[in-house]
Amino acid sequence: MPKKTNPPASSRRKADITRREAVKVAGVTTAAVAMAAGFPRIQKVRAANSTVQYGVIGTGGRGQYHLKHFKSVDGGKCVAICDIDDANLKKGLGEAPDNPAAVKDYRELLGRKDIDAVVIATPLYTHFPITRDALLAGKHTFCEKSLVFKADEVHALRQLSNDRPKQVMQVGLQRRYSEFYQTAKQMVEKGMIGDVTHVYAQWNRNPGWVYRKNNWRLDKTKSGGLTAELASHQVDVADWMFGHHPEFVVGVGGIDYHKDGRTVYDNIQLIFRYPKGQKMMYSSISTNKHLCMFGGTRTEFGEVIMGTQGTIEITVGTDNEPALGLWFYEPGPKVETAGKTKEKAAASSATLLSTGRGGRALPILLAKDQVSDQDGFLSKEMKFARRWLYSKGVMTPEETRNPVDIQLDAFLNSVRTGKRPLADLEVGLADSTAVILANLAMDEGRRVFFDEINKMGKKA
Ligand SMILES: NC(=O)c1ccc[n+]([C@@H]2O[C@H](COP(=O)([O-])OP(=O)(O)OC[C@H]3O[C@@H](n4cnc5c(N)ncnc54)[C@H](O)[C@@H]3O)[C@@H](O)[C@H]2O)c1
Repeated sequence: MPKKTNPPASSRRKADITRREAVKVAGVTTAAVAMAAGFPRIQKVRAANSTVQYGVIGTGGRGQYHLKHFKSVDGGKCVAICDIDDANLKKGLGEAPDNPAAVKDYRELLGRKDIDAVVIATPLYTHFPITRDALLAGKHTFCEKSLVFKADEVHALRQLSNDRPKQVMQVGLQRRYSEFYQTAKQMVEKGMIGDVTHVYAQWNRNPGWVYRKNNWRLDKTKSGGLTAELASHQVDVADWMFGHHPEFVVGVGGIDYHKDGRTVYDNIQLIFRYPKGQKMMYSSISTNKHLCMFGGTRTEFGEVIMGTQGTIEITVGTDNEPALGLWFYEPGPKVETAGKTKEKAAASSATLLSTGRGGRALPILLAKDQVSDQDGFLSKEMKFARRWLYSKGVMTPEETRNPVDIQLDAFLNSVRTGKRPLADLEVGLADSTAVILANLAMDEGRRVFFDEINKMGKKA
């Protein structure tokens, strides 16, 4: 075997400078630097098909959910979990596969050489320091949304992650992994709903978060409120469907109904403007959870993607409800023919799949229901039968897998193969930027331009 040699001094210097600069931007504490110095610069990327050994940091609501869902994902082994709270650590152990070690200090978990990857599901204000330390420790990292909390963290994490291209950085925006949303994106790309000019999204609750002491979500110094916790998912959908990031945002938020000591808004209304004039209109309120989609059959959250030739209504599933995706084609303009008013045929693409008149909903067809030349007679007949039942409302198409399982599976796969995640660093940072600037727009009552982020959080 060739003898291991130290890297040349020039590359060592480069690595040191990179780390020094990252640390400067990050404002990292001396203790964290000392800790990071003891860690390998880059975690060994394991061979394809090997088991990925992971740890979960933060075993509150979301961490427990991930641990439960990891049970349906092959190719991983939970080696350790961590939480500062005894009760949640215990609950985490109850959900976790593989009987992992339980620790209270995340640095202890990051110090373990048998851990390749970490999942971070802690409160927003801790995302950056823990993600930073995980990357410095050489771990592949999955961090929940919203990825970071402050403008300086956007810049620092970009630098840290880009300096470590072999380490996976994924963010918990699971709609990117949903078959329904991916199909909607394909429909948009194929022009099936014309030019997409508007997205309306809402996540309304009643009564929303209830005040409890030490609830980080209600404390503005620790949380981005409704914008970070809820809107972040849906702004990401708008960015994805438009294929752009916003140009500016305006908004109105208030603590108008829950005057219980919280410092985050209990209702927000936002408008994001995109470069070609497209708008994303957003509502999150905590006094009514009616959803003006799906004929009022669901509550709380969903998105309406509006094009010149059609509309898609879409929402993710919950543990109790399936994901839904409906397609409406746009009734054509009224034309006068021989004294009679008729509706001009709608988009030619719409007539391909449509069976009804304008305004009637058709379910979005997932890949498993698309008929192709490869299908045998029986398979074709089954698909046509299913589609007929969908069109009659007797059956609804269902995703074969929960997008959370798919995103965790994809994370482990990226760790094995180096494949870039669908919800990668830039998707996460764009999303966090939208959250930070939307909150600023509401706080300062002004139009906030997205290029302002470039100057924010940087020393003059
Ligand atoms: N993608 C989604 O759909 C989704 C859904 C829910 C929550 N989340 C995100 O997950 C994150 C956690 O939310 P939650 O609902 O689980 O919150 P939670 O308050 O229920 O849990 C957070 C846990 O982190 C622990 N913690 C705090 N600081 C820690 C530290 N330094 N080291 C170790 N553990 C620490 C807390 O003790 C708590 O148990 C948030 O960022 C939230 O936005 C995402």
